[in-house]
Amino acid sequence: IPASFNAAARDVALQELKLQGYEVVVSDLYAMNFKASATRDDIIGDVRNSEHFQYGEETLHAGMEGRLSEDIVAEQRKVTEAELIIFQFPLYWFSFPAVMKGWIDRVLSQGFAFSLEKMYDNGIFKDKKAMLSFTTGAAPTMFQPDGINGDINVTLWPLQNGILHFCGFQVLAPQIFWSPAHSPPAARAAMLEGWRTRLKGLLAENPLTFARCELFDLSFQGGFLLRPEVKEELATQPLGISTGHHLGKPLPPDNQTRAATAEDERGNGKKACGSIHTV
Ligand SMILES: Cc1cc2nc3c(=O)[nH]c(=O)nc-3n(C[C@H](O)[C@H](O)[C@H](O)COP(=O)(O)OP(=O)(O)OC[C@H]3O[C@@H](n4cnc5c(N)ncnc54)[C@H](O)[C@@H]3O)c2cc1C
Ligand SMILES: *[C@@H]1O[C@H](CO)[C@@H](O)[C@H](O)[C@H]1NC(C)=O
Ligand SMILES: *[C@@H]1O[C@H](CO)[C@@H](O)[C@H](O)[C@H]1NC(C)=O
Repeated sequence: IPASFNAAARDVALQELKLQGYEVVVSDLYAMNFKASATRDDIIGDVRNSEHFQYGEETLHAGMEGRLSEDIVAEQRKVTEAELIIFQFPLYWFSFPAVMKGWIDRVLSQGFAFSLEKMYDNGIFKDKKAMLSFTTGAAPTMFQPDGINGDINVTLWPLQNGILHFCGFQVLAPQIFWSPAHSPPAARAAMLEGWRTRLKGLLAENPLTFARCELFDLSFQGGFLLRPEVKEELATQPLGISTGHHLGKPLPPDNQTRAATAEDERGNGKKACGSIHTV
């Protein structure tokens, strides 16, 4: 929405990345009236099974045959060309607004963005970066582990691990604009300046760390579970592997909100990854 804080945050990124010489392409989903629902209309021509329409199956085949609707293909082209994708949005119900979720449902289709063989750190977009940049209505204390909404790292896990990292993206730490509507103008201006400053070094940042695929038995027979030897080695670790792979232990701090430092890597998480080299 043009007068919104989200539009201001987008414009800062646009200006700053252009200054650095990047070509920046914006998909303004509301302005495009982007279709949010994943339906049969997304396929040009016949479907394989119209009695029982299965979106994933149908779009996989339609994609291979070049029969996905033009609006999906146009967005997929942008993704293919992008080095970095910034998702700029207001947090709605702990998640994306519907139109952005629809973009994800429709554009990141099977075969284009992932397959069972190519996911997470083996994912199709492993040479690309992506990040969330969002505003909240809530104050930061509300999203603390002891705040009324619960830990923001938990909120971010399905979006950053389940969507972005699943497709292989290197996920940069989220840019969170806490409660701009309840902040004085000077604080809002400072948030935008902070974003501008961060953008200057954004492409050089280390991404967030996730549990590597090699830790798991990647077979249906093995249930895609942590390998027994890895589990054994992790048994003595005080913290879980990540926010989602907590193993019933305390979460590694800030796991979804900042990139791990060298010190973190020497600690709990990297040990798990280090064990890969021996198996
Ligand atoms: C359906 C729905 C679900 C929601 N769910 C959640 C939820 O789960 N959790 C949660 O925390 N919140 C939730 N919210 C709140 C929502 O996240 C916030 O309303 C939203 O993030 C605010 O962002 P905005 O861009 O709309 O801000 P705006 O209201 O557009 O902007 C805030 C202020 O910034 C000003 N501004 C605009 N441009 C500039 C500029 N260049 N410089 C300085 N100031 C500027 C505006 O004038 C305004 O005063 C929900 C809201 C809705 C509608
Ligand atoms: C999650 O992220 C926030 C940063 O916004 C941090 O302050 C909080 O303590 C984190 N929680 C955990 C368990 O890491
Ligand atoms: C988050 O989890 C990963 C995966 O185990 C770990 O390597 C990393 O150090 C953790 N991140 C932080 C900031 O602690």
